[in-house]
Amino acid sequence: MDAHTPAPVPPPGCPAHGSGGRVPLHGPEFAADPQAYYAYLRHYGPTAPVELAPGVGATLVTDYATALHLLQDSGSFRKDARRWRDFAEGRIPPDSPVVPLLAYRPNCMFADGAEHLRLRQAVTDSMARVDTRRLSQSTENISDYLIAQFASRGSADLVGDYAKQLPLFVFNELFGCPAGIGDRVLFGITGMFDGVNAEKATEVLFQAVGELVALKRSRPGEDVTSWLMQHPAQLGDEELVHQLALLLGAGAEPLRNLIGNTLHRLLTDDRYAYEGGLIDEALDDTLWDNPPMSNYAPHYPAGDMEFAGQKVNAGDLLLVSFAAANTGPALTAARQAGSNRAHLAWSAGPHACPSKEPARQITVTAVEHLLNQLPDVELAVPEDSLTWRPGPFNRALATLPTRFTPAAPGRAQAARPRTDHLPPAPAPQPDQATGRGERSGVWSQFLTWLTR
Ligand code: HEM
Repeated sequence: MDAHTPAPVPPPGCPAHGSGGRVPLHGPEFAADPQAYYAYLRHYGPTAPVELAPGVGATLVTDYATALHLLQDSGSFRKDARRWRDFAEGRIPPDSPVVPLLAYRPNCMFADGAEHLRLRQAVTDSMARVDTRRLSQSTENISDYLIAQFASRGSADLVGDYAKQLPLFVFNELFGCPAGIGDRVLFGITGMFDGVNAEKATEVLFQAVGELVALKRSRPGEDVTSWLMQHPAQLGDEELVHQLALLLGAGAEPLRNLIGNTLHRLLTDDRYAYEGGLIDEALDDTLWDNPPMSNYAPHYPAGDMEFAGQKVNAGDLLLVSFAAANTGPALTAARQAGSNRAHLAWSAGPHACPSKEPARQITVTAVEHLLNQLPDVELAVPEDSLTWRPGPFNRALATLPTRFTPAAPGRAQAARPRTDHLPPAPAPQPDQATGRGERSGVWSQFLTWLTR
């Protein structure tokens, strides 16, 4: 915004009126209609002042070219969150809901320069060893298992019963988690994202991943954990734990939302009426219009500077709105010209998502398999009654209630999964199953089902 342009006036009812000039991205109003907020934020110019949670201010880039500049200029804009001035100087409430996603951890997401290259290379090389045929097969097995849990009911919440669970199971399989460890990984990561007893959940997750690392040191397998260990970057045990936790954290939540948002699109827009072949299209349109990670890519200016016509200072928190950049006027032309790769849903520059191919493959397989198994699945509630989870970073449906013709009892269970690509399942370790003292967790139950 230049010096002569008056500051934009928030629309009536917009809570920006009460937030010291910062537009809040954390309330139910934002979750209900983020595009109205992005349209409003664009009035500020390429960047706008936002509030991510009570007391947590940031500058949000909403313009595509400015976003690319920020994401690609790693000399001027750094990822190491220890530079975050407000946090370092104690102005951020330590229990703020945005701290878990913004505070520094020793992983490649928060590393710069040579350290970033080293950690990222280990991650990309290890993920590149995942066999695509095996990934599809295990995604289908997991999909069969999850569908079997609700097929005879004739109704399901495709977020809670399916999209939320599937990526976590896939990760357990990719990482080579045995039963007892896998149960606690699922318990930990679910608790972290649900914010229920998040501290305990984080502790359980890190302890379980630590045990996984110790196990694979002594008994390596054909899995991402072992490949990370064998990588020439020679990661130490602590580094391994943090990269694995990052893969889980950076992978599970956006995958859940990509599956959920794509299913939502397929079930609410007749243009995709399922005839095969349209899933890819619905997925691409989701990445453009409703990207799972809507506002993220935290960066910190290395020094005081001019950026997009504004003065920014070292240690200020800058974020990119992938959702606003994708839907702004600059990209509309590229999209109309048929360029499907121009959107920013996977970010851009040195920290762009290193796993978009497997993420796409898991999503397409999960969605296609579900639609094949439940061909008449439809929304069970009016579309406008669906709600989205509040929060600035993720675009995530709270639930996706559906109905379908119930499967005959036992039908879904009868389809025996193919397991020839898997190592034999170890015996469950009931006492350590979930971190809550339950006798057997969901991963143990899945492994038992798989090998019954
Ligand atoms: C198999 C699933 C996935 C895995 C293992 C994964 C892993 C990662 C990792 C390790 C990073 C950090 C890269 C770095 O800092 O150098 C990252 C970044 C990112 N990922 Fe993914 N991801 C997955 C799925 C997704 C999905 C489904 C989306 C959304 C469409 C997504 C969007 C992003 C974005 C926007 C970033 C940049 C974040 C930033 O700059 O702060 N990812 N991902």
